[in-house]
Amino acid sequence: MKPVKATNENIQKAADIIRKGGTIAFPTETVYGLGADGLNPTAVAKIFEIKKRPSFNPLILHIDDKLKLHNICEVNDERIFKLTNKFWPGPLTLVLPKKNIVPEIVTADNPTVAVRMPNNQIALELIKNAGVPIAAPSANLFNRLSPTKASHVYNQLNDKVDMILDGGNTEVGVESTIIEVTQENIFLLRPGGIAKEEIEELINCKVEVKQKSRDPNSPGQLPFHYSPNTPLRFITNIDLETLLEKKVGAMFLEKQTVEFPFSVIKILSTKGDLREAAANLFSMLHQLDSQNLDIILVEPIAEEGLGLAMMDRLRKATANFS
Ligand code: TXA
Ligand code: MG
Repeated sequence: MKPVKATNENIQKAADIIRKGGTIAFPTETVYGLGADGLNPTAVAKIFEIKKRPSFNPLILHIDDKLKLHNICEVNDERIFKLTNKFWPGPLTLVLPKKNIVPEIVTADNPTVAVRMPNNQIALELIKNAGVPIAAPSANLFNRLSPTKASHVYNQLNDKVDMILDGGNTEVGVESTIIEVTQENIFLLRPGGIAKEEIEELINCKVEVKQKSRDPNSPGQLPFHYSPNTPLRFITNIDLETLLEKKVGAMFLEKQTVEFPFSVIKILSTKGDLREAAANLFSMLHQLDSQNLDIILVEPIAEEGLGLAMMDRLRKATANFS
């Protein structure tokens, strides 16, 4: 089914579908999610089926109210209150010890569950009306780019999902930051919409970057996640002379910094604003990927704040081809 406008009526219909065990693609402030009733294991299984994931990977539960965190996980740490007070609703996901009510298929049998409260009115209304936490990964096929607008979802999932709610472009454009809070430490599992430095400043402690090998279940951690179909390379790692006969696309942060007869050029933010750049990252990669280019070259971005998240995505997208 084609995306439908996220009117109150359609949100009600979507909530009904969720309650009946169906799947809904919906906007969040980061990327579009592919949602199902997070307490219904069969409904959750549909998500994996639709995404064509080769394994069961843990999903994020989305809630509409901070207090509902207590229903699904153990919260006995004042750092959690500080974090949810400051960053929820928003692009921060907390990984915490799960309660029994959460089905194993949601957590891939992990003793922990990932939870967040999205900062998007359509998502919040949908969750509230559904009356259950909504399990949702990004609404893309396994190893494909995350969708930042309804048409991206439709191009990848089309009639496999029961309804696609169209809420326009997502604002943040990269997925949420995921942290695991244990008694001793706070680990960064995935950089995203909230910078590690902001978290460290709030709770006054170091956030450790978790080793990749410690979390083999995580699709965001596989080196070939987020790959476009067209070969993608960092512009700094290639001899441009060898590409003179080819159709070459390029993506720069602020302005074209390399002279070459590119077929297409994308600028992430003419102001050099990392937020605007992050919001454009996926959609510009999608645009470049759809132009039948021989290769896409991307400019590396300084790894500070959101730049870290963007480089994480770009490294994964180039890993297949370098
Ligand atoms: O911004 C976002 O987080 C988007 C929107 C839709 O909310 N969702 C999203 O979900 O990116 P997904 O499934 O594409 O990525 C969730 C990540 C995965 O890398 C998964 O392995 C990790 O969260 N994750 C989930 N539960 C976990 C757990 N218990 N322990 C460690 N990692 C976990
Ligand atoms: Mg994803």
